Amino acid sequence: MSSFRAFLMGGALALAAVTASAQEMPVPAKQDWGFYGPFGTYDRAALQRGFQVYREVCAACHSMNLLAYHDLSGIGYGDAEIKAIAASVSVPDDPDDTGEVKDRPGRPSDRFKAPFANEKAAQAANNGALPKDLSLIVRGREYGPDYIFALLTGFKDTPPAGMKMAKGMNYNEAFPGHQIAMPPPLSDDRVTYADGTKANLAQEAHDVVTFLSWASDPHLEDRHRLGARVIIFLAAFSGVMYGVKRKVWSKIDH
Ligand code: HEC
Repeated sequence: MSSFRAFLMGGALALAAVTASAQEMPVPAKQDWGFYGPFGTYDRAALQRGFQVYREVCAACHSMNLLAYHDLSGIGYGDAEIKAIAASVSVPDDPDDTGEVKDRPGRPSDRFKAPFANEKAAQAANNGALPKDLSLIVRGREYGPDYIFALLTGFKDTPPAGMKMAKGMNYNEAFPGHQIAMPPPLSDDRVTYADGTKANLAQEAHDVVTFLSWASDPHLEDRHRLGARVIIFLAAFSGVMYGVKRKVWSKIDH
């Protein structure tokens, strides 16, 4: 009997834990991502628009330390464009003969310039919260792209009645606990797209999440191409083996 009671209590506890975690991590709505599925690819235009959103908006607070400017060839930029993008930032040069450090324009081999000198400076500027490096953020979050899309589009001006917000925090439907130190970064027409696409909130969020997904997994298309080749090979091989089987059995059958 007592073990049955323990079983019931265990069940109740497990249920409570599940409900609590469901409260902490709302399940985001599923979005349509072209890079999902066995033959999925990244939409080049969306990647470039997404990089524009990162560069003009997110880069003010979030680093992407794992990327160098020349990696942008992976989203379809040519050498001249990459040079120009790199040269638009200035980075500390090597010390000269007198030991003095001067700034120089960025080069394609430089890593993306980080907005803050270190984590302490980043926290001090952001209400004590750390704007995390976004290089691998899509892989690092449950529900990956769907969650980040929901986060970027999930800000509300006023929290639900009865919810007390801590100072400097913003209400967000997707963020676990619903209080986030990041102010809403995107809104309609936050950027003017170089390719003329209309920049509403959902479009900007979709594009920047596509870019961040590529950064988290730049070799996805290679894997999908290899997978397709393997399937074609297996199909052809099955055909050959079927022919062999028929030939062999035709002699045995009669
Ligand atoms: C003004 C600074 C600022 C800007 C601009 C900004 N962020 Fe943030 N972001 C933050 C801070 C601060 C946090 C940490 C929030 C916290 O932990 O409460 C954060 C957190 C995040 C997180 C992590 C959420 C989690 O689950 O932990 C993601 C993803 C993110 N930002 C994406 C973006 C994207 C994409 C952009 C550009 C569209 C952007 N941010 C622009 C300050 C900023």
